[in-house]
Amino acid sequence: MKAFTYTTCSPSLFVVLMVLCLSTGVSSQLTTDFYVTSCPNVFKVVRRVVVNALKNEMRMAASLLRLHFHDCFVNGCDGSILLDGSDGEKFAFPNINSARGFDVVDSIKTAVENECNGTVSCADILAIAARDSVVLSGGPTWKVLLGRRDGLVANQTGANSNLPSPFDSINTIITKFAAVGLNTTDVVALSGGHTIGLARCVTFNNRLSNFSTTESVDPTLDSSMAADLQGLCSQSSDGNATTALDRNSTDVFDNHYFKNLLSQKGLLSSDQGLFSSDEGVAATEGLVQIYSNSSSAFFSDFVISMIKMGSISPLTGSAGEIRRNCRAVN
Ligand code: HEM
Ligand SMILES: *[C@@H]1O[C@H](CO)[C@@H](O)[C@H](O)[C@H]1NC(C)=O
Ligand SMILES: *[C@@H]1O[C@H](CO)[C@@H](O)[C@H](O)[C@H]1NC(C)=O
Ligand SMILES: *[C@@H]1O[C@H](CO)[C@@H](O)[C@H](O)[C@H]1NC(C)=O
Ligand SMILES: *[C@@H]1O[C@H](CO)[C@@H](O)[C@H](O)[C@H]1NC(C)=O
Ligand SMILES: *[C@@H]1O[C@H](CO)[C@@H](O)[C@H](O)[C@H]1NC(C)=O
Ligand SMILES: *[C@@H]1O[C@H](CO)[C@@H](O)[C@H](O)[C@H]1NC(C)=O
Ligand SMILES: *[C@@H]1O[C@H](CO)[C@@H](O)[C@H](O)[C@H]1NC(C)=O
Repeated sequence: MKAFTYTTCSPSLFVVLMVLCLSTGVSSQLTTDFYVTSCPNVFKVVRRVVVNALKNEMRMAASLLRLHFHDCFVNGCDGSILLDGSDGEKFAFPNINSARGFDVVDSIKTAVENECNGTVSCADILAIAARDSVVLSGGPTWKVLLGRRDGLVANQTGANSNLPSPFDSINTIITKFAAVGLNTTDVVALSGGHTIGLARCVTFNNRLSNFSTTESVDPTLDSSMAADLQGLCSQSSDGNATTALDRNSTDVFDNHYFKNLLSQKGLLSSDQGLFSSDEGVAATEGLVQIYSNSSSAFFSDFVISMIKMGSISPLTGSAGEIRRNCRAVN
């Protein structure tokens, strides 16, 4: 009997499967039906809480999408951004005073625990909530890969070094994405996430003049938009005032973000840099043109890139844990 077991799991078959899995570039351990028997209603439960949160504040869709991105870039998609504590990722520069939605994640976790306790990871909750947020904002849908487990540590240093800054050059951003296995197409498609949500003056002030003049310091910023932003940002000296990343359709997931770039109306320098001769990154400019022309091209590439991003270094099997409370390790 023992011999049988060994034959069905022959080493050569194992090698073939490994090669197949590696060549797809997508983590083989995650599956779309991971909770099909252990928590069959997980999608309904998560969606119900997200729907309610968006009724209260549409911006929450953007905040939840961003949480999943900021989770995945630091130690993989392991829920590490959710951990409380002064040494946590929440206090890293890219997150402090801007990452939000933690209370909504708590509400989702409570609802999911009531449905099937000790089963669904916080990392998977972020992946499902991000997908639902995109769909409920009018964007594309996809089947979310699941089976991630929660990490045991937060990594503030990692958050500071791995996450892209709006002041980074496009080449630096491309390098940071490459470090987690994402390429230039992923950079441009995922930057389209800025079709929803807001940013604070401190993240784009660098493009404005010193406020005693209406001249734009940044020649790649449309001058009437620059004047408008100067008005907004001069009213709040602390840089906390916010404006839409896509000022044409703030709450709608569409390809307007890319159309804005064609007319020098990108908000962050890292947005406009995807389409500006100054940066001279031909590959990103071509993609911006394609996505601005075709929302279906944007949507299909965005879906592919979200699945790739969601598959960054997941903890699976018996690694990590299923956190009881997303804010603390068990
Ligand atoms: C390409 C490099 C990226 C840079 C430099 C960047 C930078 C930023 C900055 C500076 C903000 C405003 C934060 C603040 O006000 O303090 C922001 C907001 C946001 N980012 Fe990005 N981001 C990038 C990529 C992405 C990706 C890949 C996604 C998701 C797919 C994303 C989704 C969002 C969303 C939805 C918001 C609005 C959040 C809200 O309103 O709460 N970003 N980003
Ligand atoms: C600006 O935001 C930070 C963080 O939320 C806060 O500490 C500070 O008090 C804010 N400033 C004002 C004037 O609200
Ligand atoms: C699930 O709930 C039951 C009953 O409330 C409790 O006894 C059990 O410890 C819980 N399991 C986990 C993993 O939280
Ligand atoms: C934190 O992240 C950095 C950069 O990704 C990595 O080199 C380091 O090993 C991580 N530290 C921990 C404790 O996970
Ligand atoms: C990025 O990777 C995808 C596969 O995930 C591939 O289709 C695309 O051509 C790649 N883009 C570049 C610029 O290499
Ligand atoms: C602000 O801009 C004005 C007009 O260009 C210039 O005279 C002044 O020196 C600038 N101030 C600072 C602090 O840069
Ligand atoms: C985007 O919004 C600006 C400012 O409201 C407006 O001038 C412009 O026509 C809009 N563009 C499109 C394509 O709707
Ligand atoms: C955008 O669409 C127009 C009209 O369909 C077409 O002529 C043009 O070549 C397209 N540009 C790109 C970059 O796809």
